[in-house]
Amino acid sequence: MQLSDKHKLKAAITGVGGYLPDDILTNSDLEKMVDTSDEWIVTRTGIRERRLLKIANKGTSYLCVKAIEDLLSKTDTDPLTIDAVILATVTPDFQVSPTSSVIISEIGAHNAFGFDLSAACSGFLYALSTATSYVSSGRYQKVIVVGGDMMSSLVDYTDRTTCILFGDGAGAVLIEPSQNGFGFEDEYCRSDGYNQMLLGVKAGGSLYPTSIETVKNKWHKLYQDGPTVYKRAVSEMYNATFEILKRNGLDADTIDFFLAHQANKRIIDSTANRIGIDSVKVLLNIDRYGNTTCATIPLLLYDYENQFKIGSKMIITAFGGGFTWGSAYLTWAY
Ligand code: UT7
Repeated sequence: MQLSDKHKLKAAITGVGGYLPDDILTNSDLEKMVDTSDEWIVTRTGIRERRLLKIANKGTSYLCVKAIEDLLSKTDTDPLTIDAVILATVTPDFQVSPTSSVIISEIGAHNAFGFDLSAACSGFLYALSTATSYVSSGRYQKVIVVGGDMMSSLVDYTDRTTCILFGDGAGAVLIEPSQNGFGFEDEYCRSDGYNQMLLGVKAGGSLYPTSIETVKNKWHKLYQDGPTVYKRAVSEMYNATFEILKRNGLDADTIDFFLAHQANKRIIDSTANRIGIDSVKVLLNIDRYGNTTCATIPLLLYDYENQFKIGSKMIITAFGGGFTWGSAYLTWAY
């Protein structure tokens, strides 16, 4: 049965919160740790510094709770009215027990359920897809999507090819039924598992459980075939965005803001160039935070929220390990 447009619910982002830990790791700090230079890092990636969570016994849940507390306070939302919390992360506090449960208890959302969603750097995009579907189905009214990662827990700070890239942080959004017809419009998401060994953490899962050998081999640390991932990231973010624009009758000029996963400024610039999006519409914060994995897109929303107007047209696009990728089209609702 098709719902008439009149009865179709649209889900919208109705608030944004964020949190970055205080400790800063600069390029000059990294120059003292590995054989690299500020000049190489800035020209190859656009990154100048990143934030690290260095508080003892604190993990990803801490970052996410802080971001959600900011969101609840900015939107004056009672945590008891929250129906669900979806956490996008690759660095849960623990295996098995979901970090979203810890978050739900810590923020006092005692009427909510939640789960962790694992889709590498596309995690926030996939979680946004899930949450907006929940709300537009009419089943739930208030869903929080939080993207948070403590990448410093996975990074090998002796490997110059990866340690310069990543940082810690979290961003959260509230999803509610749209009151003005603006909100989440469309999405195009894809996955491909033939290239798993190009980006990821080899051990600690069911295929290579933790052993003395896996620890000795550093298989619990993040590895990446950077140049191969780079090429695929540009082409898939371009393809996904092209599809979204085409099927919504849009062209690059009609888009107001382009929010791409912040993995490398050159990847973002090449993708935007190929699509034909003017550089003034390309939102960036990679220079200050590096790649925070599931937090990059909500942190862009957090940093640039004041520039968005009701009806602003925006594209969100991401590419990550797995591979996972996609693009979404939103009209800003507040
Ligand atoms: O978030 C999920 C998706 N991830 C991405 O999208 C990341 C994709 N990849 C990238 O962003 C880039 O490939 C990197 C930033 C990781 C690397 O940049 P690149 O321009 O692709 O460099 P490269 O790997 O081709 O390395 C070029 C040279 C090599 O030296 P030789 O072989 O030419 O002598 C590297 O050993 O740069 C060297 N190199 C470094 N030099 C100084 C690699 N890392 C560093 C470093 N400092 N940190």
